[in-house]
Amino acid sequence: MKILGIETSCDDTALALLEAEEGTSKVPSFKMLQNIISSQLEAHAEFGGVVPGLAKREHAKNLIPVLYQILEETTEKKQNKTSKDKLKDIEKILERYPKLLEEFKGKVVPLEKPDIDLITVTHGPGLEPALWVGVNFARALAVLWNIPLVGVDHMEGHIAVNLLSAEKVEFPALALAVSGGHTQLILVKNWMDYELLGETLDDAAGEAFDKVARMLGLGFPGGPAIEKLAKKGNANAFDFPRPMLKKPNYNFSFSGLKTAVLYTVQKLSKKELEDKKVDLAASFQQAVVDTLVIKSIKAAKDNDIKTFMLAGGVAANTALREQMEAKLKEELPEARFIVPEITLATDNGVMIAIAGYLRHNAGEDSDWRTLEADSTKLITE
Ligand code: KG4
Ligand code: ZN
Repeated sequence: MKILGIETSCDDTALALLEAEEGTSKVPSFKMLQNIISSQLEAHAEFGGVVPGLAKREHAKNLIPVLYQILEETTEKKQNKTSKDKLKDIEKILERYPKLLEEFKGKVVPLEKPDIDLITVTHGPGLEPALWVGVNFARALAVLWNIPLVGVDHMEGHIAVNLLSAEKVEFPALALAVSGGHTQLILVKNWMDYELLGETLDDAAGEAFDKVARMLGLGFPGGPAIEKLAKKGNANAFDFPRPMLKKPNYNFSFSGLKTAVLYTVQKLSKKELEDKKVDLAASFQQAVVDTLVIKSIKAAKDNDIKTFMLAGGVAANTALREQMEAKLKEELPEARFIVPEITLATDNGVMIAIAGYLRHNAGEDSDWRTLEADSTKLITE
Protein backbone atom coordinates (compact mmCIF):
# COMPACT_ATOMS: atom_id res chain seq x y z
CA MET A 1 0.00 0.00 0.00
CA LYS A 2 1.21 3.51 -0.80
CA ILE A 3 0.85 6.26 1.77
CA LEU A 4 1.10 10.01 1.37
CA GLY A 5 2.38 11.79 4.50
CA ILE A 6 1.69 15.51 4.96
CA GLU A 7 3.37 17.56 7.70
CA THR A 8 2.80 21.30 8.18
CA SER A 9 2.84 21.73 11.96
CA CYS A 10 5.66 24.25 12.00
CA ASP A 11 7.87 25.85 9.35
CA ASP A 12 8.52 22.94 6.98
CA THR A 13 6.11 21.95 4.23
CA ALA A 14 6.99 18.26 4.19
CA LEU A 15 5.41 15.57 2.04
CA ALA A 16 6.48 11.97 1.58
CA LEU A 17 5.40 8.87 -0.25
CA LEU A 18 5.91 5.60 1.56
CA GLU A 19 5.29 2.01 0.60
CA ALA A 20 4.22 -0.41 3.32
CA GLU A 21 4.46 -4.12 2.70
CA GLU A 22 2.86 -6.56 5.09
CA GLY A 23 5.34 -9.41 5.54
CA THR A 24 4.30 -12.89 6.60
CA SER A 25 5.39 -12.04 10.15
CA LYS A 26 2.82 -9.23 10.22
CA VAL A 27 5.63 -6.74 10.69
CA PRO A 28 5.27 -4.18 7.94
CA SER A 29 8.37 -3.20 6.08
CA PHE A 30 8.49 0.37 4.88
CA LYS A 31 10.16 1.73 1.81
CA MET A 32 10.66 5.46 1.41
CA LEU A 33 9.73 6.36 -2.16
CA GLN A 34 9.80 10.15 -1.85
CA ASN A 35 10.68 12.57 0.91
CA ILE A 36 10.41 16.26 0.03
CA ILE A 37 10.86 19.09 2.51
CA SER A 38 10.35 22.69 1.52
CA SER A 39 11.93 24.82 4.22
CA GLN A 40 10.60 28.27 5.10
CA LEU A 41 13.74 29.30 6.96
CA GLU A 42 14.38 32.28 4.74
CA ALA A 43 10.85 33.64 5.13
CA HIS A 44 11.10 33.55 8.93
CA ALA A 45 14.78 34.52 9.25
CA GLU A 46 14.24 38.25 9.75
CA PHE A 47 11.87 37.51 12.67
CA GLY A 48 14.34 35.24 14.48
CA GLY A 49 11.72 32.51 14.92
CA VAL A 50 8.65 30.99 13.31
CA VAL A 51 5.67 33.33 12.74
CA PRO A 52 2.41 31.27 12.65
CA GLY A 53 0.47 33.43 10.12
CA LEU A 54 3.46 33.57 7.80
CA ALA A 55 3.94 29.79 8.13
CA LYS A 56 0.31 29.30 7.05
CA ARG A 57 0.75 31.46 3.95
CA GLU A 58 4.01 29.76 3.01
CA HIS A 59 2.45 26.29 3.39
CA ALA A 60 -0.47 27.36 1.19
CA LYS A 61 2.04 28.49 -1.42
CA ASN A 62 4.29 25.41 -1.19
CA LEU A 63 1.85 22.52 -0.88
CA ILE A 64 0.99 22.06 -4.55
CA PRO A 65 4.56 22.49 -5.89
CA VAL A 66 5.75 19.90 -3.33
CA LEU A 67 2.87 17.57 -4.23
CA TYR A 68 3.92 17.84 -7.88
CA GLN A 69 7.46 16.79 -6.92
CA ILE A 70 6.03 13.79 -5.07
CA LEU A 71 3.86 12.75 -7.99
CA GLU A 72 6.55 13.42 -10.60
CA GLU A 73 5.49 10.71 -13.04
CA THR A 74 1.74 10.99 -12.51
CA THR A 75 1.17 14.60 -13.44
CA GLU A 76 -0.72 13.63 -16.60
CA LYS A 77 -3.95 15.55 -17.01
CA LYS A 78 -6.98 13.35 -17.33
CA GLN A 79 -10.07 13.80 -19.49
CA ASN A 80 -12.93 12.69 -17.25
CA LYS A 81 -14.64 15.32 -15.17
CA THR A 82 -14.81 15.70 -11.42
CA SER A 83 -18.39 15.73 -10.15
CA LYS A 84 -20.01 19.01 -9.14
CA ASP A 85 -20.66 17.68 -5.63
CA LYS A 86 -16.99 16.88 -5.13
CA LEU A 87 -15.97 20.30 -6.36
CA LYS A 88 -18.43 21.90 -3.98
CA ASP A 89 -16.95 19.97 -1.05
CA ILE A 90 -13.43 20.98 -2.08
CA GLU A 91 -14.45 24.63 -2.42
CA LYS A 92 -15.89 24.54 1.10
CA ILE A 93 -12.80 22.83 2.57
CA LEU A 94 -10.35 25.31 1.03
CA GLU A 95 -12.49 28.46 1.23
CA ARG A 96 -10.11 30.10 3.71
CA TYR A 97 -7.23 29.92 1.21
CA PRO A 98 -8.49 31.47 -2.06
CA LYS A 99 -5.17 31.22 -3.93
CA LEU A 100 -4.60 27.63 -2.86
CA LEU A 101 -8.16 26.76 -3.90
CA GLU A 102 -7.68 28.28 -7.36
CA GLU A 103 -4.39 26.43 -7.81
CA PHE A 104 -5.98 23.22 -6.53
CA LYS A 105 -8.76 23.48 -9.11
CA GLY A 106 -6.34 24.31 -11.90
CA LYS A 107 -3.50 21.91 -11.11
CA VAL A 108 -4.66 19.09 -8.85
CA VAL A 109 -8.29 18.44 -9.82
CA PRO A 110 -7.38 17.67 -13.48
CA LEU A 111 -4.74 15.09 -12.49
CA GLU A 112 -5.12 11.39 -13.02
CA LYS A 113 -5.76 9.78 -9.61
CA PRO A 114 -2.28 8.74 -8.48
CA ASP A 115 -1.25 5.37 -7.11
CA ILE A 116 -1.88 6.34 -3.46
CA ASP A 117 -4.05 4.32 -1.06
CA LEU A 118 -3.99 6.41 2.11
CA ILE A 119 -3.56 10.06 3.06
CA THR A 120 -2.03 10.89 6.43
CA VAL A 121 -1.64 14.36 7.91
CA THR A 122 -0.40 15.93 11.14
CA HIS A 123 -3.37 17.29 13.06
CA GLY A 124 -1.46 18.32 16.20
CA PRO A 125 0.38 19.43 18.22
CA GLY A 126 1.90 22.46 16.49
CA LEU A 127 1.04 25.96 15.31
CA GLU A 128 -2.72 26.15 14.81
CA PRO A 129 -2.88 28.07 11.47
CA ALA A 130 -0.03 25.98 10.03
CA LEU A 131 -1.71 22.72 11.06
CA TRP A 132 -5.06 23.76 9.59
CA VAL A 133 -3.77 24.39 6.08
CA GLY A 134 -2.18 20.91 5.97
CA VAL A 135 -5.30 19.27 7.40
CA ASN A 136 -7.57 21.04 4.92
CA PHE A 137 -5.30 20.23 1.99
CA ALA A 138 -5.35 16.55 3.05
CA ARG A 139 -9.16 16.62 3.38
CA ALA A 140 -9.49 18.07 -0.12
CA LEU A 141 -7.22 15.36 -1.56
CA ALA A 142 -9.16 12.63 0.27
CA VAL A 143 -12.40 13.91 -1.26
CA LEU A 144 -10.93 14.32 -4.73
CA TRP A 145 -9.31 10.89 -4.89
CA ASN A 146 -11.86 9.15 -2.67
CA ILE A 147 -9.28 7.47 -0.46
CA PRO A 148 -9.03 7.07 3.34
CA LEU A 149 -7.60 9.81 5.53
CA VAL A 150 -5.89 9.63 8.93
CA GLY A 151 -5.06 12.50 11.30
CA VAL A 152 -1.70 11.86 12.97
CA ASP A 153 -0.12 13.04 16.21
CA HIS A 154 3.15 14.80 15.40
CA MET A 155 5.05 13.30 18.35
CA GLU A 156 3.77 9.81 17.55
CA GLY A 157 5.22 10.39 14.09
CA HIS A 158 8.62 11.30 15.53
CA ILE A 159 8.63 8.06 17.54
CA ALA A 160 7.17 5.81 14.82
CA VAL A 161 9.75 6.87 12.22
CA ASN A 162 12.10 4.55 14.12
CA LEU A 163 10.23 1.68 12.42
CA LEU A 164 11.94 2.60 9.18
CA SER A 165 15.31 1.44 10.47
CA ALA A 166 14.17 -1.05 13.09
CA GLU A 167 11.20 -2.90 11.54
CA LYS A 168 10.49 -4.60 14.84
CA VAL A 169 10.38 -2.88 18.22
CA GLU A 170 10.22 -4.96 21.38
CA PHE A 171 8.05 -3.63 24.19
CA PRO A 172 8.02 -2.11 26.68
CA ALA A 173 10.01 0.59 24.98
CA LEU A 174 11.00 4.02 26.19
CA ALA A 175 10.99 7.02 23.87
CA LEU A 176 12.76 10.27 24.58
CA ALA A 177 10.96 12.71 22.30
CA VAL A 178 12.91 15.95 22.07
CA SER A 179 11.86 18.67 19.65
CA GLY A 180 11.44 22.42 19.43
CA GLY A 181 8.11 22.25 21.23
CA HIS A 182 8.34 19.15 23.41
CA THR A 183 10.59 17.19 25.74
CA GLN A 184 8.84 14.03 26.82
CA LEU A 185 9.75 10.65 28.26
CA ILE A 186 7.13 8.27 26.97
CA LEU A 187 6.68 4.65 27.97
CA VAL A 188 5.61 2.84 24.80
CA LYS A 189 3.76 -0.26 25.98
CA ASN A 190 2.80 -1.03 22.42
CA TRP A 191 2.22 1.07 19.32
CA MET A 192 -0.60 3.49 20.11
CA ASP A 193 -0.44 2.64 23.83
CA TYR A 194 1.58 5.36 25.54
CA GLU A 195 2.18 6.59 29.06
CA LEU A 196 3.72 9.98 29.64
CA LEU A 197 6.37 9.46 32.34
CA GLY A 198 7.72 12.98 32.38
CA GLU A 199 8.09 16.18 30.42
CA THR A 200 9.64 19.61 30.59
CA LEU A 201 8.10 22.02 33.03
CA ASP A 202 9.18 25.03 30.95
CA ASP A 203 11.33 25.24 27.79
CA ALA A 204 11.69 22.27 25.46
CA ALA A 205 15.23 21.02 24.81
CA GLY A 206 15.20 22.25 21.20
CA GLU A 207 13.82 25.60 22.33
CA ALA A 208 16.76 25.93 24.77
CA PHE A 209 19.17 25.23 21.89
CA ASP A 210 17.41 27.89 19.80
CA LYS A 211 17.43 30.51 22.58
CA VAL A 212 21.06 29.96 23.52
CA ALA A 213 22.01 30.09 19.85
CA ARG A 214 20.38 33.51 19.68
CA MET A 215 22.43 34.70 22.69
CA LEU A 216 25.55 33.58 20.86
CA GLY A 217 24.50 35.42 17.71
CA LEU A 218 23.90 32.21 15.72
CA GLY A 219 21.06 31.68 13.26
CA PHE A 220 17.77 29.77 13.57
CA PRO A 221 17.33 26.86 14.14
CA GLY A 222 19.94 26.91 16.85
CA GLY A 223 20.51 23.19 17.40
CA PRO A 224 22.66 22.45 14.35
CA ALA A 225 24.61 25.73 14.80
CA ILE A 226 25.40 24.98 18.45
CA GLU A 227 26.37 21.40 17.65
CA LYS A 228 28.81 22.61 15.00
CA LEU A 229 30.49 25.10 17.35
CA ALA A 230 30.46 22.66 20.26
CA LYS A 231 32.69 20.25 18.33
CA LYS A 232 35.51 22.80 18.58
CA GLY A 233 34.92 23.73 22.23
CA ASN A 234 35.68 22.44 25.72
CA ALA A 235 32.56 21.03 27.37
CA ASN A 236 34.09 21.51 30.83
CA ALA A 237 35.00 25.17 30.38
CA PHE A 238 31.78 26.40 32.02
CA ASP A 239 30.02 24.66 34.87
CA PHE A 240 26.39 25.07 33.84
CA PRO A 241 23.60 23.54 35.97
CA ARG A 242 22.02 20.13 35.25
CA PRO A 243 18.48 20.99 36.42
CA MET A 244 16.03 18.58 38.11
CA LEU A 245 18.47 15.70 38.48
CA LYS A 246 17.86 15.37 42.21
CA LYS A 247 14.07 15.39 41.83
CA PRO A 248 12.51 11.89 42.15
CA ASN A 249 10.54 12.18 38.89
CA TYR A 250 11.13 12.14 35.15
CA ASN A 251 10.47 15.80 34.48
CA PHE A 252 12.87 18.29 32.94
CA SER A 253 13.46 22.03 33.17
CA PHE A 254 15.71 23.97 30.83
CA SER A 255 14.84 27.56 31.63
CA GLY A 256 17.33 27.82 34.55
CA LEU A 257 20.12 26.48 32.36
CA LYS A 258 19.23 29.02 29.67
CA THR A 259 19.35 31.84 32.25
CA ALA A 260 22.71 30.61 33.54
CA VAL A 261 24.10 30.86 30.01
CA LEU A 262 22.58 34.34 29.64
CA TYR A 263 24.23 35.61 32.86
CA THR A 264 27.56 34.23 31.75
CA VAL A 265 27.24 35.84 28.32
CA GLN A 266 26.26 39.21 29.84
CA LYS A 267 29.45 39.30 31.91
CA LEU A 268 31.68 38.86 28.87
CA SER A 269 33.03 41.61 26.64
CA LYS A 270 32.40 41.33 22.89
CA LYS A 271 35.90 40.05 22.34
CA GLU A 272 35.68 37.53 25.21
CA LEU A 273 32.33 36.29 23.87
CA GLU A 274 33.87 35.74 20.44
CA ASP A 275 36.78 33.82 22.00
CA LYS A 276 34.63 31.73 24.29
CA LYS A 277 31.73 30.98 21.94
CA VAL A 278 32.86 27.45 21.18
CA ASP A 279 33.32 26.65 24.89
CA LEU A 280 29.94 28.15 25.76
CA ALA A 281 28.29 26.06 23.05
CA ALA A 282 30.08 22.88 24.13
CA SER A 283 29.39 23.41 27.85
CA PHE A 284 25.72 24.22 27.25
CA GLN A 285 25.23 21.24 24.94
CA GLN A 286 26.88 18.93 27.47
CA ALA A 287 24.58 20.17 30.25
CA VAL A 288 21.52 19.38 28.09
CA VAL A 289 22.87 15.99 27.03
CA ASP A 290 23.79 15.01 30.62
CA THR A 291 20.32 15.91 31.86
CA LEU A 292 18.55 14.03 29.07
CA VAL A 293 20.79 10.96 29.44
CA ILE A 294 20.60 10.68 33.23
CA LYS A 295 16.82 11.05 33.41
CA SER A 296 16.24 8.72 30.45
CA ILE A 297 18.45 5.96 31.85
CA LYS A 298 16.68 6.19 35.20
CA ALA A 299 13.29 5.84 33.49
CA ALA A 300 14.61 2.98 31.33
CA LYS A 301 15.86 1.03 34.35
CA ASP A 302 12.79 1.71 36.50
CA ASN A 303 10.56 0.37 33.74
CA ASP A 304 12.82 -2.49 32.69
CA ILE A 305 12.52 -1.58 29.05
CA LYS A 306 13.58 -3.73 26.09
CA THR A 307 14.00 -0.92 23.54
CA PHE A 308 15.08 2.69 23.76
CA MET A 309 14.07 5.11 20.99
CA LEU A 310 15.31 8.62 20.43
CA ALA A 311 12.88 10.91 18.61
CA GLY A 312 12.40 14.53 17.47
CA GLY A 313 14.64 17.24 16.05
CA VAL A 314 17.15 17.20 18.92
CA ALA A 315 17.70 13.48 18.20
CA ALA A 316 19.73 14.77 15.23
CA ASN A 317 22.39 15.82 17.76
CA THR A 318 25.38 13.48 17.50
CA ALA A 319 26.59 14.08 21.06
CA LEU A 320 23.16 13.08 22.39
CA ARG A 321 22.95 10.01 20.11
CA GLU A 322 26.42 8.76 21.04
CA GLN A 323 26.28 9.42 24.75
CA MET A 324 22.77 7.98 25.15
CA GLU A 325 23.77 4.81 23.32
CA ALA A 326 26.98 4.41 25.35
CA LYS A 327 25.25 4.90 28.69
CA LEU A 328 22.42 2.53 27.78
CA LYS A 329 24.94 -0.15 26.82
CA GLU A 330 26.64 0.29 30.18
CA GLU A 331 23.52 0.38 32.35
CA LEU A 332 21.03 -1.79 30.44
CA PRO A 333 23.12 -3.93 28.07
CA GLU A 334 20.14 -6.08 27.04
CA ALA A 335 18.13 -3.13 25.75
CA ARG A 336 18.23 -2.21 22.09
CA PHE A 337 18.97 1.36 21.07
CA ILE A 338 17.20 2.75 18.01
CA VAL A 339 17.55 6.18 16.55
CA PRO A 340 16.24 7.64 13.27
CA GLU A 341 18.63 8.63 10.51
CA ILE A 342 19.77 12.19 11.19
CA THR A 343 17.74 13.56 8.27
CA LEU A 344 14.58 11.86 9.54
CA ALA A 345 14.92 13.11 13.13
CA THR A 346 13.68 16.60 12.24
CA ASP A 347 10.19 17.16 10.81
CA ASN A 348 9.30 15.19 7.67
CA GLY A 349 6.34 13.52 5.96
CA VAL A 350 7.73 9.98 6.27
CA MET A 351 7.14 9.90 10.02
CA ILE A 352 3.52 10.97 9.52
CA ALA A 353 2.98 8.29 6.87
CA ILE A 354 4.32 5.56 9.19
CA ALA A 355 2.29 6.62 12.25
CA GLY A 356 -0.77 7.10 10.02
CA TYR A 357 -0.36 3.61 8.59
CA LEU A 358 -0.33 2.14 12.13
CA ARG A 359 -3.54 4.02 12.96
CA HIS A 360 -5.17 2.99 9.68
CA ASN A 361 -4.36 -0.66 10.34
CA ALA A 362 -5.93 -0.34 13.77
CA GLY A 363 -9.15 0.86 12.12
CA GLU A 364 -8.68 4.46 13.19
CA ASP A 365 -9.30 6.33 9.95
CA SER A 366 -10.55 9.90 10.27
CA ASP A 367 -13.63 11.33 8.58
CA TRP A 368 -12.73 14.06 6.08
CA ARG A 369 -15.90 15.90 7.08
CA THR A 370 -14.87 16.29 10.71
CA LEU A 371 -11.05 16.08 10.90
CA GLU A 372 -9.72 19.12 12.73
CA ALA A 373 -6.37 20.60 13.73
CA ASP A 374 -5.66 20.57 17.46
CA SER A 375 -2.60 22.60 18.40
CA THR A 376 -2.39 21.35 21.98
CA LYS A 377 -2.94 17.67 21.33
CA LEU A 378 -1.10 15.26 23.65
CA ILE A 379 0.15 11.86 22.51
CA THR A 380 -1.28 10.15 25.60
CA GLU A 381 -4.81 11.48 25.17
O1 KG4 B 1 11.16 18.01 15.54
P1 KG4 B 1 11.61 19.30 14.99
O2 KG4 B 1 12.18 19.33 13.62
O3 KG4 B 1 10.43 20.34 15.02
C1 KG4 B 1 9.54 20.38 16.10
O4 KG4 B 1 8.67 19.48 16.16
O5 KG4 B 1 9.73 21.27 16.94
O6 KG4 B 1 12.65 19.89 16.01
C2 KG4 B 1 13.24 21.14 15.82
C3 KG4 B 1 14.18 21.42 16.97
C4 KG4 B 1 14.75 22.83 16.92
O7 KG4 B 1 14.62 23.41 18.19
C5 KG4 B 1 16.19 22.60 16.54
O8 KG4 B 1 17.07 23.59 17.06
C6 KG4 B 1 16.46 21.25 17.12
O9 KG4 B 1 15.29 20.52 16.92
N1 KG4 B 1 17.59 20.58 16.46
C7 KG4 B 1 18.73 20.25 17.10
C8 KG4 B 1 19.58 19.71 16.09
N2 KG4 B 1 18.91 19.72 14.91
C9 KG4 B 1 17.68 20.26 15.16
N3 KG4 B 1 19.12 20.38 18.37
C10 KG4 B 1 20.37 19.97 18.68
N4 KG4 B 1 21.24 19.47 17.80
C11 KG4 B 1 20.90 19.32 16.49
N5 KG4 B 1 21.76 18.81 15.62
ZN1 ZN C 1 8.79 17.85 15.16
